[in-house]
Amino acid sequence: MSEMNLLIPGPTPLPPAVREAMASAMINHRGEEFGEALHTVLNGLQQIYRTAAPILPFTASGSGGLEAAVTNVLSPGDRVLALSCGHFGQRFAAVATMFGADVVKEEAEWGSAIDPQRVTDALRRHRGVKAVLVTHNETSTGIANDLQGIADAVRPSGALLLVDAVSSLGAMDLRTDAWGLDVVVTASQKALMGPPGMTFVSVSPRAWEAVKTSRMPKHYFSFPQARDQLAGTVAYTPFTPAISVIFALHVSVAMILASGIDAHIDHHRRLARTTREGIAALGLELFAQPSRASDTVTAVRVPQNIDSKEMLRRLRTQHGVVLSGGQGPLEKAIFRIGHMGYVQQDQLLAALTALRLVLSELGYSGKKGTAVRAAARDPSRG
Ligand SMILES: Cc1ncc(COP(=O)(O)O)c(C=O)c1O
Repeated sequence: MSEMNLLIPGPTPLPPAVREAMASAMINHRGEEFGEALHTVLNGLQQIYRTAAPILPFTASGSGGLEAAVTNVLSPGDRVLALSCGHFGQRFAAVATMFGADVVKEEAEWGSAIDPQRVTDALRRHRGVKAVLVTHNETSTGIANDLQGIADAVRPSGALLLVDAVSSLGAMDLRTDAWGLDVVVTASQKALMGPPGMTFVSVSPRAWEAVKTSRMPKHYFSFPQARDQLAGTVAYTPFTPAISVIFALHVSVAMILASGIDAHIDHHRRLARTTREGIAALGLELFAQPSRASDTVTAVRVPQNIDSKEMLRRLRTQHGVVLSGGQGPLEKAIFRIGHMGYVQQDQLLAALTALRLVLSELGYSGKKGTAVRAAARDPSRG
């Protein structure tokens, strides 16, 4: 398969050393060698999560982690406030509904962020909320929610805060313990520079208390079972794990820690700025409210009279650039550029150049020609 310039919001391009690690021979997943690798990955993740709480691994994609978060701390009939401003906020709410929670929603218009004041108001309106669900980075609309502000708004109510950090952890500031986040879910295939296959959750002491009385059904995703099997002299998982993904993360998490978590976050900030400036220089419009535009994915409005499917097809077949369309109701209205994980500035500049050419071929008459110059002008970019 030929190498493409993959700029979708996950899976992301992988560093060569990570790809090599994935090709390693299989080993005994209940043996010491694997136990040590798993232990090292989970310790590294604890640092990236900025938490003292142990991290639990599950072999699943991020949605499995969302299900694990809901089913381990809640019981059928528990009242849940689901904050939503896009497709993934809706998914988190749907999981809670599916398992019998009494879900009330606080929704922001797609393209806008959740206002922490509205969270305070909603928690006054809806009494007895046991948990609040929030998507840190709404990948479907390119919005980074004010997670710290939302955590501040939730704290006085005593509700647990369950966070979908699938497309933010490692790329955006997130302080699990300092901000009082109770369960934080992420996945291997985004800013962590790994392939898909593993999801991870942190569980606060308050959340562990809730686990004791939780009555939602779970088997594969049981927190206590995962915790107990990690705690032995050799750490392992209750079921056969995605060994190759752990090997990959063993390398990628070490790379993140070696360069520094703040440097990894800064890298994403610079990639996002390059993308937004390039988009503006082409005369295109961001979909997200600019003050809360995400550092891992940029959502762009499709210009009038442009067929987004054809645009994406030409980018892929003529230029090897792979971008994403919109999701759900936004399918044709926006396209998305992912810039997370092992993405480099030159990949983005190549994609912006290709975008200018393809749009021009399709008859787009907005501002042209300056995207790459504008994006490349700032010499401080790495
Ligand atoms: C914010 C967010 N939540 C959840 C998911 C679902 O993750 P997965 O596709 O790994 O199940 C995604 C995937 O893009 C996401 O971006």
